[in-house]
Amino acid sequence: MRTTKYDMLDVIRERFANRALKQDNQVSDQTLEALVEAAAQAPSCFNEQPWRFLIAKGERKDRLLATLTPVNQEWAGRAAALVLTLAKKTFTYNGNNNPWHLSDAGCAAGFFMLEAQRRGLTAHPMAGFDKKAARAAFLIPEEFDIVHVMAVGEPGDLELLSEKNQARNHPGTRKAIEEFIL
Ligand SMILES: Cc1cc2nc3c(=O)[nH]c(=O)nc-3n(C[C@H](O)[C@H](O)[C@H](O)COP(=O)(O)O)c2cc1C
Repeated sequence: MRTTKYDMLDVIRERFANRALKQDNQVSDQTLEALVEAAAQAPSCFNEQPWRFLIAKGERKDRLLATLTPVNQEWAGRAAALVLTLAKKTFTYNGNNNPWHLSDAGCAAGFFMLEAQRRGLTAHPMAGFDKKAARAAFLIPEEFDIVHVMAVGEPGDLELLSEKNQARNHPGTRKAIEEFIL
């Protein structure tokens, strides 16, 4: 767990971009639905709720996995599910562009990750994948931006990672608080 100057939710301190996932990972459809429900509690501009989560298990997981970079494939293949996060580009109420769709989807993904952490699971976001290939693989309409892929699963089995990934499998450092406050 990270050390922080102030007290805060344990899940915030505990979460990190964990790449060590158990072999034969199992996360039920019900749990994945609960993570989506947690994400859906996030705020959004005009309450648009522009986020969508394409949950890929089984054959769909293989299809999404194939779009990941080799470095990500090495560990993310052990996830119980890969989740493709999408964001609708326009407001439904008037059809105008929604400049906050990515911000809202990022916030929702944060809620998803923290609820996963609370349940003892890892939800690790990745930008290392081919967006065009993912769009083509699932026929994602252009009205949605592709945000990222999350690897969701039970943590464990550090020794299954390559030496390089083992060495970097720890919480990332943070800048000093003063650097964030303007
Ligand atoms: C949008 C986004 C894309 C990321 N892409 C990758 C990725 O492709 N592969 C990976 O292993 N980690 C990826 N990460 C994880 C970050 O490297 C990680 O969150 C960061 O180094 C901070 O570490 P921490 O989450 O453990 O605090 C990504 C994180 C975000 C938010």
